[in-house]
Amino acid sequence: MSGAVTLRVARDLEELSGLAAAFSLRCCQASITARGRCVVALSGGSTPRMLYTLLGRSPFLQEIDWARVHLFWGDERCVPVQDSQSNYRLVAETLLASAPLPKENIHRVPVELGDPQAVAASYETHVRDFFGLREGELPAFDLVLLGMGADGHTASLFPESPALEEQRSLVVAVYAEALQSHRTTFTLPVLNHARRVTFLVAGADKRDSLQRALAGDLTLPAARVAPTQGQLRWFVDRAAMGRA
Ligand code: 6PG
Repeated sequence: MSGAVTLRVARDLEELSGLAAAFSLRCCQASITARGRCVVALSGGSTPRMLYTLLGRSPFLQEIDWARVHLFWGDERCVPVQDSQSNYRLVAETLLASAPLPKENIHRVPVELGDPQAVAASYETHVRDFFGLREGELPAFDLVLLGMGADGHTASLFPESPALEEQRSLVVAVYAEALQSHRTTFTLPVLNHARRVTFLVAGADKRDSLQRALAGDLTLPAARVAPTQGQLRWFVDRAAMGRA
């Protein structure tokens, strides 16, 4: 039984980012009140940059108890952290440039290990250790932020990828042919075990894939994100909805 699904349509990326920042604040406050911490899996790509920048500024900078927030990356490109393609760098130069998270709360993907399989295996071990998981158990992230590509991919789960069928591993290494990019990504069981999953989708180029994903076209990886117990929330802009 999937959880509730909510769709919020914003005027533009700026309004979308503001709505997502306010929602993220509420998630952090609720999770910290309930469990003493908020464990977040971040999205990469360009859409969340404004959100991450907002969270590092007033009022969010002051209103979130960053010492109780843990950041993971839902997917990562297997490039050095200084690389402009790095999803870690995206967060480091926005949110982490001002938000006072203890370094032990920043759980970046260990890309320095080099081999993508080794990177994925190491990150999976870290996730299991952090959540204290026994074999077969899944981590319950308080908030998973996701984007969606024009082809309907999300995290680094691409259409027709074998990774979409992975049911045992938490983290897998993938090669994105179209992008010629080695990556690691959380698998669908992880995404679908989260308490809250939030998509941020903006721009007219996403219109077709958004319409299909919202209609439940399971050929699109984004449509396969259906939290079993948690809430699913879409923050989209008018351009992605095909509205003038
Ligand atoms: C990544 C992301 C990926 C992203 C989509 C949308 O590492 O690239 O995790 O899933 O969310 O490709 O990217 P944009 O936000 O740049 O459109």
